[in-house]
Amino acid sequence: FNSTDTPKPLVIVTPSRTSHFQATIYRARKHGIQIRTRSGGHDYEGLSYVAKVPFVVVDLVNFRSVDVDAENRVAWVQAGAILGEVYYRIAEKSRTLAFAGGIYHTIGVGGYIRGGGFGLLFRKYGTGGDNVIDTQFIDVNGRILDRKSMGEDMFWAIRGGGGGSFGIVLAWKLILVPVPATVTAFSFSRTLEQNATQLILQWQDIAHQLPNEMNPDVTMFSINSTQDGRKTILPSFSSLFLGTIDELLPIMQQRFPQLGLSRQDCIEMSWIESILYYNQLQNQPLEILLNRTFRTPVGGQYYKIKSDYVKEPISETALNDFKTALSSWLIAESWIGFLRRQHHSRIEPAYANYRDLDIGSNNVGITSYTQASVGGRKYFKNNFDRLVQVKTKIDPENSFKHEQSIPPFL
Ligand code: FDA
Repeated sequence: FNSTDTPKPLVIVTPSRTSHFQATIYRARKHGIQIRTRSGGHDYEGLSYVAKVPFVVVDLVNFRSVDVDAENRVAWVQAGAILGEVYYRIAEKSRTLAFAGGIYHTIGVGGYIRGGGFGLLFRKYGTGGDNVIDTQFIDVNGRILDRKSMGEDMFWAIRGGGGGSFGIVLAWKLILVPVPATVTAFSFSRTLEQNATQLILQWQDIAHQLPNEMNPDVTMFSINSTQDGRKTILPSFSSLFLGTIDELLPIMQQRFPQLGLSRQDCIEMSWIESILYYNQLQNQPLEILLNRTFRTPVGGQYYKIKSDYVKEPISETALNDFKTALSSWLIAESWIGFLRRQHHSRIEPAYANYRDLDIGSNNVGITSYTQASVGGRKYFKNNFDRLVQVKTKIDPENSFKHEQSIPPFL
């Protein structure tokens, strides 16, 4: 999105007070200019700062205060704050409180919660959106609304119904959740020669039954084999556990002895240190979490992302097909196409925070309900119609729109 022919905004507004938002929305509507709202700027299709029509970017970079009330376990967070700022400010007050946010610390709180938001605490405490109890929001008429004045339907819609469709979130009131003083991370790999395929098959049956204090994960990396140099896959098994190594090991030995998890595979740390660990920033000062332009090794590459929900375990045949595809040196694009062909009939809706224009895109002019529902139903299934109802009520003239925004009924 950073090339010379990428469409640029007419103006970038960086409001420092509420009246700046009101003036911008008023003038943009008057002149028929589209508004793109940017919090952290991590939209996977760049929809918060690229448009094909004349547009203004409203950038919340100056709207990022984080006010933590550790005693009452809540925080008021302005939408332009990044997750790292939230985690850092919570840790300043308490090392045993956390927000159920994502791993990557430069994600904006605004966009993250607009799409739901899952992270390391998802199984224990739900999504980021589940942990919001109030909001400050500005609508197309410049009205400042909170949870009570906007009503429950609207409050539901802005915590998962996708960003950029209803208005601008100025702040969220977050629930802070308890975490133990010591947490444990493990991550280790098994080669195919070490029976990794069988382990993955077993993992699929067992992982979801492990305690909610864990977030079990398997990632398959493509590597060059040390034996013949050809491409092969290296599965990596990992989890964070809300507890100590001594508490974790008996659980794993009882529930999943085949994995052979040992003390050497595990590392203890505090919750805030686990954020550094998963960002590959171990041994860095905590202040690095405040750097919103920092590019970690995790976020430094350019890539396209696709998300599918697999509702039944991936079969051994399909796993072997992965391996064959990779060892045949297929390029990434072919590999993705291959996956879709194999599993298409089982694909469930995509995840709204993993924006993907391939699954559907609105027209540039008038947004048709039929066309918008193609992508919309993949993200939201039957909730799409409820989102359309909220949109019709709050923004009937469709002033807040983009390629995948929720349309009003015309
Ligand atoms: P950005 O500012 O680009 O906004 C995204 C969308 O929300 C746009 O449509 C924008 O207009 C709208 N929006 C933003 N602020 C708004 C506001 N204040 N009011 C109204 N609309 C607003 N997700 C996840 O759930 N778990 C994870 O672990 C990760 N990990 C991850 C890693 C990396 C490297 C990336 C790039 C992304 C993720 N994500 C993720 C996805 C991420 O949650 C998603 O891209 C968010 O929308 C990013 O929010 P930003 O505020 O940074 O984006």
